[in-house]
Amino acid sequence: MSPDRTRLHIAVQKSGRLSEQSLALLKSSGLRINQGGKHRLSARAENFPLDIMFVRDDDIPTFVAEGICELGIVGQNVLAEYALGLAKPRIEEIARLGYGRCSLKIAAPEKLAGFQIEMLAKQRIATSYPRLLQRFLDSQGIEAETVTMRGAVELAPRLGIASFVCDLVSTGATLEANGLAPVADVFDSEAVLVRTRQPLDGAHAEKIDALRTRIDGVIATAESKYIVLNAPESALAAITAILPGADAPTVVPLVGRPGHVAVQAVCQESVFWETLERLKGAGASAILVMPIEKMMM
Ligand code: PRP
Ligand code: ZN
Repeated sequence: MSPDRTRLHIAVQKSGRLSEQSLALLKSSGLRINQGGKHRLSARAENFPLDIMFVRDDDIPTFVAEGICELGIVGQNVLAEYALGLAKPRIEEIARLGYGRCSLKIAAPEKLAGFQIEMLAKQRIATSYPRLLQRFLDSQGIEAETVTMRGAVELAPRLGIASFVCDLVSTGATLEANGLAPVADVFDSEAVLVRTRQPLDGAHAEKIDALRTRIDGVIATAESKYIVLNAPESALAAITAILPGADAPTVVPLVGRPGHVAVQAVCQESVFWETLERLKGAGASAILVMPIEKMMM
């Protein structure tokens, strides 16, 4: 079965750290997705020309590089490992998605004391990310032996296969459960939206832009708030300086209160209680903070 070339195709992780949030992001972008059973390997958006392919995260770069899927959602860790094996780039990162944050770290048995980077010299390090690890070792001028494993890397020290591991850490629970402790940071990662560098026809490119605009809107909206407050005109400069990530607030006069105005602004960064206290301190009153449901910039 060859894919329908009139539709867009996006590769997302079938099951794993990014699956749930990737699907949630697509749904928040207004896509109605008929997922079917959990063994389904693809799904169709009913109200947008997009098909979703559920694949192993490590396979996502290949799908996108080959243009089988024009788009993908993948961790920068998987993407960078793949890209380091290519002579020239075949995938373009088009948006950071703000979830799936984790880092690739070197870890050592907890009992090892006083770690120093030189201690890696001539040692065996087990990893599923041999290229990222090698780049790191080169940058540190260290020669070590890489043992490539597809999974269960944390078992390697106990099995006597390696003295160190280099693996992804998010909560740290896996390392801890295996008696390991992080000793060095190799690469920080989050989920990103990627597109193929294969040439696309105009219709495909337009659909990608439309989807991207929606996704950008969802990401921007996640943290954004709409703030309304009253203030004496004389305090306007001080108050707009406090509003986090707001440009050009709307200022309107208050009927019956000369010298006072209402200020309305979209704040594109988190609004904390502390921010409200500072606004109040600067002369603001009747401060309202409201969630924003949709936004298109
Ligand atoms: C990574 C890594 C660890 C685990 C760490 O696997 O290999 O097993 O996550 O997470 P923690 O710090 O929260 O315990 P991943 O979910 O990426 O699965 P995969 O390597 O099989 O794709
Ligand atoms: Zn994987």
